Amino acid sequence: PKGLGALAERKRRYFGVAWDVNRAVDSDYTQLVLAQFDQITAENSLKWETTEPSRGVFNYTNGDFVVGTALANHMSFRAHVLVWHSQLPAWVTAGNFSKTELTSIMKNHIVNVAGHYKGKVYTWDVVNEVFNEDGTFRSTVFYDTIGAEFIDIAFKTARQTDPHALLAINDYNIDGTGAKSTAMINLVKGAKRRGVPIDQIGAQAHLVVGTLPTDIQANWQAFTDIGVVVAVTEVDIRMPTPPTAESLAQQAADYKTVVSACLNIKKCVGVTVWGASDKYSWVPDVFPGEGAPLQWDDNLVPKPAYNATVQAL
Ligand code: XIL
Repeated sequence: PKGLGALAERKRRYFGVAWDVNRAVDSDYTQLVLAQFDQITAENSLKWETTEPSRGVFNYTNGDFVVGTALANHMSFRAHVLVWHSQLPAWVTAGNFSKTELTSIMKNHIVNVAGHYKGKVYTWDVVNEVFNEDGTFRSTVFYDTIGAEFIDIAFKTARQTDPHALLAINDYNIDGTGAKSTAMINLVKGAKRRGVPIDQIGAQAHLVVGTLPTDIQANWQAFTDIGVVVAVTEVDIRMPTPPTAESLAQQAADYKTVVSACLNIKKCVGVTVWGASDKYSWVPDVFPGEGAPLQWDDNLVPKPAYNATVQAL
């Protein structure tokens, strides 16, 4: 244990980071990652488009590299993701499969991918982003073809395949209370009543500087009150670019809020940031005019957000 990971472990949490094969070529960056964190999530390499690019053809080259790096460095590995509507190959989205066919395709995917990584995974994100903002189910190829039942089937299949991995449902905008967080609670409650093995709610926590909900801790606490643990899985806190002294200070306060919320919740198991350096964040590509959401700047210099995290831990 080292860096933020070591500090988190003193509080019986982990502090993790998204990293991937395409970052390994930057050795300074990778050294930073290995020096600071004790958990890795593959940012992209375990997504369906990579692991099963054509039907029945599985590719684990990149995933194996990330898992191998994590385990060789005594970091735990969070596996992301089995069933998600995004980064899904066209053969799935445009296949026009029947309910029976798509169910068997989904199960086969889970059995193969979770089977390949069996024993190496601390938690699997089994399903990701199933809700709309109003708490209704998102229209996706899985929901539209199979119905909400796809979620139960995915969890049961994952449990059978890798009985030792914790199984998570993951989403964004479930930080504060509201329709989406309520929907998450209701889904997990119902699933548990039906004997569906959901162990963890993952709150992605893709946030915006200065706009954090005031009830994050109470909301995540409410998740754990229904018999699951919570993990903060993809933290970044973006701002209009370029940063100013003021926005960096607000960001530091916001990181402290998120990290402290987890530490204050008995069943919050850890925090994962969605990258370490601003130079590799996905944010500027997806939110034009926004960026600088992480704890180290483009030159790998620690930002106030890093210092605030150390203080919070
Ligand atoms: C993002 C990655 O960071 C990008 O590199 C990729 O191009 C798109 O996906 N929610 C998730 C993650 O669950 O998988 C997403 O990761 C960010 C939003």
